[in-house]
Amino acid sequence: PASAVPGPGGDLLVGGVSLREAAERFGTPLYVFDEGEARARARAYRRALPEAEVLYAAKAFLCTAMADLVAEEGLGLDVCSAGELRLAAAAGFPAGRILLHGNAKSPDELRLARRLGVGRIVLDNLAEIPRLAALATPDRPQRVLVRVLPGVAAGHHAAVRTGVDGQKFGFSIASGEAAEAVRRTLAQPALRLVGLHCHLGSQITDPAPYRTAVDRLVELLARIRDEHAVELPELDLGGGHGVRYLPGDPELTPAAFAAATTARLAARCAEHALAVPKLLIEPGRAVAAPAAVALYRVLAVKHTAEGRAFAAVDGGMSDNPRPALYGSAYTVRVLGRAPRLGGGGVVGSGAGPTRPFDVVGCHCEAGDVLARDAPLPADLRPGDLLAVPAAGAYQLAMASGYNLVGRPALVAARDGRARLLVRRETVDDFLARETGR
Ligand code: LLP
Repeated sequence: PASAVPGPGGDLLVGGVSLREAAERFGTPLYVFDEGEARARARAYRRALPEAEVLYAAKAFLCTAMADLVAEEGLGLDVCSAGELRLAAAAGFPAGRILLHGNAKSPDELRLARRLGVGRIVLDNLAEIPRLAALATPDRPQRVLVRVLPGVAAGHHAAVRTGVDGQKFGFSIASGEAAEAVRRTLAQPALRLVGLHCHLGSQITDPAPYRTAVDRLVELLARIRDEHAVELPELDLGGGHGVRYLPGDPELTPAAFAAATTARLAARCAEHALAVPKLLIEPGRAVAAPAAVALYRVLAVKHTAEGRAFAAVDGGMSDNPRPALYGSAYTVRVLGRAPRLGGGGVVGSGAGPTRPFDVVGCHCEAGDVLARDAPLPADLRPGDLLAVPAAGAYQLAMASGYNLVGRPALVAARDGRARLLVRRETVDDFLARETGR
């Protein structure tokens, strides 16, 4: 991963900050977030798609400093809850550049979005069409997109494939539900329908599904034009661009995504005699994941009679539920020992021999595993520090309070300086929520 480079004595540097020093200073588990890497990734999207509007998907990782970074880099923000919306507002993120998603938006969420002046709201069910219309007026209309299902299956796990019929999001194109949602939206003078939206899934590494989605969405745009005599000016292809978790993994870069979609969009629009709509995209993981490294301290090492080896660390499924939820794989590296080169990059570390370890957490379940069969030094011992790259998305954002372990802290690293952005959750935080005695 681009953000972690070898340092002296087997240390790793992120944003010029020694991970060993960061662990000493801030404790573990810890996320070290390379601000420069996140900025470079945001810029790569703007460079690859200069005509498009790029909205960072806050669900991947959000804190006020991240909202600032996104605003400074000229991206918009995709939020999907009142919480994300209020955090963005607290950071002073320009409301006009925010897009609100949600398959179950509450009346309060819609009111909040209207009060803050959120730029776009994505409609996901029929009930919210009149509900939102009642909060807007024809002279102060709400810009909306209709979320549709192009019938394209893509993504690393069934739980994240949202472009197909038969799951909770959006309106099916195939069944005619999308056309009906468009009809009802256009009938509301207080709503201004600006486009169609789809989100296929997450951790997609092949651009082909996006091309199919473009074809099907442009077809629908043409039918809308024929039926209603309106050309919708925007097309939002959602997020989902895959990143590298293991050394040989494929990734979908901004340039590859742009190459796959922009020419296709122009060609399909020309076939239907449509003006080319403005492209919107919502990458989350591809901006945030590669920017952070998770740091853990080994607390126990166990070699079992049947020959398995376990490295138990001070975090686990409460700070990274992805392996337990989706079977996600990660690279694990040990600090403080000389790096050892293997096929395709640094695969293990340590001058001595390595062996496969299951890196497990401190929680009360056998499924609390962070990585299976990670090659680590055979003499791994308590006190060693483990670094897990590509930890910036859907980890802290999905962290839980399981076993009251407390969510990790996050520090930003830039030009060799570390700055605490989010402090560690403490037992006092848990106790503070109790009101019962
Ligand atoms: N737009 C919409 C409407 C979405 O639902 C999502 C992600 C995104 C954009 C951003 O997708 P990304 O570029 O980050 O792939 N927890 C799962 C991923 C869930 C993705 C949910 N929606 C995981 O850890 O793999």
